[in-house]
Amino acid sequence: MKPARSILITGASSGIGRALALAYARPGVALALTGRDDDRLAAVAAAARGQGAEVETGVLDVRDQAAVAQWIAELDQRRPLDLAVANAGITTGLAPSEIREDPQAVRAVLGANLIGVLNTVEPLIGPMCARGRGQLAFVGSMAGLRGLPYAPAYSAAKAAVHTYAESLRGRLEPRGVRVSLIIAGFVKTPLNARIEAMKPFELSDAEAARIIRRGLDRGQAVVAFPWQLYLATRLARALPARLIDKIMARIEVNVPETQERVP
Ligand SMILES: NC(=O)c1ccc[n+]([C@@H]2O[C@H](COP(=O)([O-])OP(=O)(O)OC[C@H]3O[C@@H](n4cnc5c(N)ncnc54)[C@H](OP(=O)(O)O)[C@@H]3O)[C@@H](O)[C@H]2O)c1
Repeated sequence: MKPARSILITGASSGIGRALALAYARPGVALALTGRDDDRLAAVAAAARGQGAEVETGVLDVRDQAAVAQWIAELDQRRPLDLAVANAGITTGLAPSEIREDPQAVRAVLGANLIGVLNTVEPLIGPMCARGRGQLAFVGSMAGLRGLPYAPAYSAAKAAVHTYAESLRGRLEPRGVRVSLIIAGFVKTPLNARIEAMKPFELSDAEAARIIRRGLDRGQAVVAFPWQLYLATRLARALPARLIDKIMARIEVNVPETQERVP
């Protein structure tokens, strides 16, 4: 595949999105970066410009369908996008003593992690297919491979993203548009720092970004890392469901409830 030169990344003001922006930033590359925190987004943009990239930013909430559609359509008309990475997301979950997630927190997670992803890619499906080229990348999670008892809504949102990406791949690739699903394990970011758990094979955001970029450059259908956790999760799926439930019940995990609520 030709290297992407015009790239949109949502959730670029922090963590994986920020690291990915810096992994792509170089002369000849135009980055369109979004997030909600103006100052953090501006700092990432300045760092990417320092590496020679052309950068524009949009302070946007990915749940705002109209605003996201307008920004992306305008961007894509001016400079057709080679790659869009739907990365923005939040987490929520349960402490060991809790049994029910707050319904408004659940809706906030589905809003950002699922509806936000749809809002990001929908405006690009038509134009990319018309051009017969482009790449849509979705940031999923190991949590999307198997429902985690510590994070029901987060797992469900990621599983939906995985299935959506898979469906889209079958539909769009014959029309020249690549679809890549990123299945990430633990990556050191502010989102991950809030979670109290064993974090096997945890990677830095820069390492994760390097792996993601390499996979996307190659046009991989699935970019899953770390491979050890991916393999273990895939193998675990072959075991009886209640056995996995029992094993997971023995692992102490505390995923704090998000402060986000539906707007
Ligand atoms: N870190 C991990 O271990 C891990 C593992 C698997 C998957 N992931 C996934 O990786 C993605 C990035 O997470 P991260 O770990 O890098 O977290 P992070 O450091 O907290 O960054 C999240 C980014 O998403 C943006 N964002 C959140 N809600 C948004 C909204 N409603 N509208 C627009 N932007 C929004 C944030 O922007 P503002 O801060 O500016 O609002 C921020 O830039 C998420 O989809 C997450 O589920 C992470």
